[in-house]
Amino acid sequence: MTNGDAAWWRDGVLYQIYVRSFADTDGDGSGDLQGVIDHLDHLEWLGVDGIWLSPITPSPDRDWGYDVSDYRDVHPELGDLATLDRLVSEAASRGIRVILDLVPNHTSDLHPWFVDARSSVNAEHRGWYVWRDPRPDGSPPNNWVSVFGGPAWELEERTGQSYLHNFLTEQPDLDWWNEDVRREFEDIVRFWFDRGIAGFRIDVANGLIKDRALRDNAPATQDDPEDIRRRGQRQVYNLNRPEVHEIYRDWRGIADAFDPPRILVGETWIFDLREVARFYGATGDELHLCFNFPFVFADLDAETLRGIVETTEDALEPFAQPAWAGSNHDVGRFPTRWCADRPAAARCALLMLLTLRGTPFLYYGDEIGMVEVPVTGDDVRDGPGQIGEAQTGRDPGRTPMHWNAEPGTGFTDGGARPWLPIGDARAINVADQREDPGSMLHLCRDLIALRRETSDLRSGAYASLPSPPGVWTWRRGSSTTVAVNLSDGRVAVPVDPGTIAIGTDRSRDGETVDADINLGPWEGAVLRVAPA
Ligand code: NOJ
Repeated sequence: MTNGDAAWWRDGVLYQIYVRSFADTDGDGSGDLQGVIDHLDHLEWLGVDGIWLSPITPSPDRDWGYDVSDYRDVHPELGDLATLDRLVSEAASRGIRVILDLVPNHTSDLHPWFVDARSSVNAEHRGWYVWRDPRPDGSPPNNWVSVFGGPAWELEERTGQSYLHNFLTEQPDLDWWNEDVRREFEDIVRFWFDRGIAGFRIDVANGLIKDRALRDNAPATQDDPEDIRRRGQRQVYNLNRPEVHEIYRDWRGIADAFDPPRILVGETWIFDLREVARFYGATGDELHLCFNFPFVFADLDAETLRGIVETTEDALEPFAQPAWAGSNHDVGRFPTRWCADRPAAARCALLMLLTLRGTPFLYYGDEIGMVEVPVTGDDVRDGPGQIGEAQTGRDPGRTPMHWNAEPGTGFTDGGARPWLPIGDARAINVADQREDPGSMLHLCRDLIALRRETSDLRSGAYASLPSPPGVWTWRRGSSTTVAVNLSDGRVAVPVDPGTIAIGTDRSRDGETVDADINLGPWEGAVLRVAPA
């Protein structure tokens, strides 16, 4: 890597790999780092610029890697540090950077820091976590609730105090007011940057700092949005505290001091886009990219999505680059969530993700339109899913990649039972789609290539254009227009004269368009038009 490509993450496309589900090379039914190395050729062919690996650090896997027991090593089931180093260098030789997942909000309860902390009130690491006495009536120290349901406090009989856990009881929250915690994580961040990691996706980025006095959250009211009402409280004291920004200014300084600079991507699970904007920093001195959850959770509806994109564009300072995703390991897969498994709708969604102003994040399998797989009974692996509270279980969006139509789908050699059930790979797989130029896979690859060769698509401003109901049309830069018909009817959409560069119906590529483009139900196109 050289400094010359420092803006790679603005121009490029990122691809999230849930390592356990990508490719299994040691026959244990679970994907591993060698499996990622073995499929770098696919990613290079597809044209992605960076991969984000879901947590690869050692973990007892109560929350599949999001409960870390060692921040400076690799989970033995996934590989080792030498394999990771090889992955980084093999990826670099194909122009692909590697981003890791960093989980700074909480550790595993089996992390040596917590094992020590819980042993006594005088333990060395006691102050690394958040401990409080129960209230006089024995109830938890405050009214905060865990994301996975129930009180966010667990009483430790041994010391008579409770510890805070905003997620599972096995995921105790670190105390980010503690300077030793901060120094430790600066060191962890440097440890991985020194190994050539291109950046981090930061888990629960808006939650690290809690109200110092641990005040009660205010109860939800009938006027609050549904997610707040469901939780029963407004999370003002356990999330989005202003002091969290100091941490990111600090980490940004560290990231910028590396050559090339490293990047920070925030899991900003926030529904107020002005609040999301703050995580880029007042002068662009915090996170490089922040996920946009209002967009992720919106319906695939033209008016709704246009509104969110316009609000995002208004909320962000000119230096702030939006990040767009339709799928991930928590929310599931967009071909199912947004598109009810309809391939034509999934093509429109893919076209939208790859042509908005900002950095697209694909999730493994998005490129072939993989759909969610029902996971029930003994097959369920998701800890919070088994608790069955806030989440209904996230396994359906985490099932093994479909590389081909063989038994084991090219994910595993078929010896061991895959860690999660495999979906219908005869219908959707990489090998068959590679042979078919009209496939979703080729559409994805061609859109990525178009983006690379079209400066409008990489950096041109976004402007909504007037569109008929059910259709969303926008301009990028001076001479690129995108139109998606997210409706069941055929529509004539007014556009400037031009040519279809790529259509979701590939037989229309190259077609000349005069005053209108006629789009069938769930059809979209990128057009080269006369400069505005
Ligand atoms: C967000 C992660 O994406 C999710 O998978 C995890 O359960 C929680 N944070 C807790 O780490």
